[in-house]
Amino acid sequence: MNLLSDKRILLGVSGGIAAYKSAELVRQLRAAGAVVRVVMTRAATEFVTARTFQALSGQPVWSDWSDDRTSMDHIELARWADRLLIAPATADTLARLAHGRADDLLGAICLASTAPLCVAPAMNQGMWRHAATRDNVRYLQERGVAILGPAEGAQACGDNGPGRMLEPEALVRALSDSFSSGALAGVSVVLTAGPTREAVDPVRYISNRSSGKMGYAIAAAARDAGARVELISGPTALDAPVGVHLTRVESAGDMLAAVLDRVEAGCQLFISAAAVADYRPARPAAQKLKKQAQQWSLPLEPVADILATVSALPRRPFCVGFAAETEDVEQHAQKKRLLKGVELIAANRVGRNLGFDTDDNELLLVWEGGSRLLARDSKTRLARLLIEQIATLYSSQPCLRISTENDAKHSA
Ligand code: CTP
Repeated sequence: MNLLSDKRILLGVSGGIAAYKSAELVRQLRAAGAVVRVVMTRAATEFVTARTFQALSGQPVWSDWSDDRTSMDHIELARWADRLLIAPATADTLARLAHGRADDLLGAICLASTAPLCVAPAMNQGMWRHAATRDNVRYLQERGVAILGPAEGAQACGDNGPGRMLEPEALVRALSDSFSSGALAGVSVVLTAGPTREAVDPVRYISNRSSGKMGYAIAAAARDAGARVELISGPTALDAPVGVHLTRVESAGDMLAAVLDRVEAGCQLFISAAAVADYRPARPAAQKLKKQAQQWSLPLEPVADILATVSALPRRPFCVGFAAETEDVEQHAQKKRLLKGVELIAANRVGRNLGFDTDDNELLLVWEGGSRLLARDSKTRLARLLIEQIATLYSSQPCLRISTENDAKHSA
């Protein structure tokens, strides 16, 4: 499965003959949906030009301290990346990484970044087998660096043996796999997203500003964490993330029916990210309503609360809700958590260009005995952090874990 969509990959290219393959690697990473920025060592520019990588990545390329226009680019790049991949990684690059050298841009970025680092070694087989390189590789592995390859075979120098850089397809696959955290491996998740539409007549409805972006990002993050995801979505302009099963609905009533159907079929985790209507027209008209000269009012009736309904089921899943608030976010969030009887509430401030239909958001997570602020960031990154937190809380609930294991045994 491709887990690279919207992932930010910082590709470091060091100076080996395999650098020409990194051009194809950039192309394949972008085809898989990743955003790629390239940082080259000075030696790498002797093999391939920065212009090639610039054209293929569609981003500026950094190859020297003089490219660090703000003097802080290296820190920005270190923070920006979801993954650092160095391909090819020469013997010299491995030695420099092992010793934490920061006297070139790529070394400084690797040192400043907390993103996982993967390296694809490429060198002569004798250099790869040398005790110095073996030691450096061991140091790096002990620090959690993923060593991808090298492959064995004929080398540019005429030798035969280990030291060929892995082919771009293999690197793309390995990088994609590295995003599968397994934190929700085998967990079945039902998730709602987007707005609902409550019919006034055949052509009009009541709805809200939700774009569904946050819910769809959570679906992708849960999938990346190894969950089976059933997404039940109100009308949005978004495509289902690959590997996520999508059911489209219109009204809150349809959404409730679809959710109960999926939850009763077996689900361990319910995440209610949809902006569900609280009221709907009491008597939607069968024909288009005609305009009238005088004032008109529309009688509304309350809609069942989907989250509270699921949370009150006898065999209930672990429940996560959202709270969209315009003020007193923490207070309202805690109140909603207790009122709806759910394990976790993710609260955000909405209104004045915040929350709805934007790419960024800020979330305050509250649960019994804890809270955590997820500072303003893209919805994709926030979704990953939220899923991490959910997985931590979910796995600390022994009774829920046991029911997952039993369900897995029954379905085996
Ligand atoms: N929710 C739901 N069904 C509804 C209304 C809301 O499942 N009919 C869920 C939302 O998906 C969200 C949580 O309840 O996870 C809180 O939604 P929110 O709109 O913030 O709050 P409300 O419960 O509607 O309360 P209020 O509008 O008074 O803030």
